[in-house]
Amino acid sequence: MHALIINGSPRVKKYSNTDKILGKITEGMKESGSSYEQFEISDRSQWDSIRERFYCVDHILIALPLYVECIPGLLMEFLETIEPIAKARPADAASTASRSAADGSETVSRPKLSFLLQSGFAEGIQLRCGEAYLEKLAGMLGCEYGGTLVKGDNFSIRLFEDEQREKIVGKYAEMGRIYGRDGAFTDEACKKFTGPEVFPFPIRLLIGLMFKTLAKKSFNDMAKKWGCTKPLTDRPYGK
Ligand SMILES: Cc1cc2nc3c(=O)[nH]c(=O)nc-3n(C[C@H](O)[C@H](O)[C@H](O)COP(=O)(O)O)c2cc1C
Repeated sequence: MHALIINGSPRVKKYSNTDKILGKITEGMKESGSSYEQFEISDRSQWDSIRERFYCVDHILIALPLYVECIPGLLMEFLETIEPIAKARPADAASTASRSAADGSETVSRPKLSFLLQSGFAEGIQLRCGEAYLEKLAGMLGCEYGGTLVKGDNFSIRLFEDEQREKIVGKYAEMGRIYGRDGAFTDEACKKFTGPEVFPFPIRLLIGLMFKTLAKKSFNDMAKKWGCTKPLTDRPYGK
């Protein structure tokens, strides 16, 4: 299996958590005997090449972070330039995946489009709206839907190195092996990978408390270091 992989983060490759996750996914894919080519949405100079490849391959994986409960704007801008497969890939131009219909006429091949949706906050539930949208998106682009690997708790990947980073991203290698084997994230193990949909009440209480104290202080210190002179609760446009 060969896949076109698109990192949908607007963050440049070096700083992108999605890229570090993809590092592990592709490691697993290679172990399953699959190959891939990876592109970055953050680099507009690659957009023409991504479009060109989008219309040729049989497997596409779009990996994206959740940004304000949504698809990142830059990825959306790119996706709006993609023609649905049936329009962009006429049957006679279709590559290896071109299939014959029962009546002998040629049909347009439909690549399998899968997604990896990852986020900072850990609870699975906040990613479900995005997941439902991505399933629709696959249909809108004329692709067969290959499922979405959904996982939170990824805020700190780029802040860590070596062993600490491995603790967070290491587990994605197994998902890569499955994707390399199936060309999809429909296996039961991928569904379980998300973890808890909602934390138990005492944990939610603890996290709420942490955000009001420790996290608030660290955000304020960070803002001061970056030269912010107003409090973070300031509402300059709300006055
Ligand atoms: C502008 C922005 C908005 C974000 N919005 C959310 C959000 O709504 N929910 C969430 O869980 N994480 C949110 N995050 C965290 C990212 O999803 C998370 O850090 C992700 O791993 C970033 O991947 P990237 O470095 O490849 O862009 C946001 C991050 C940024 C920068």
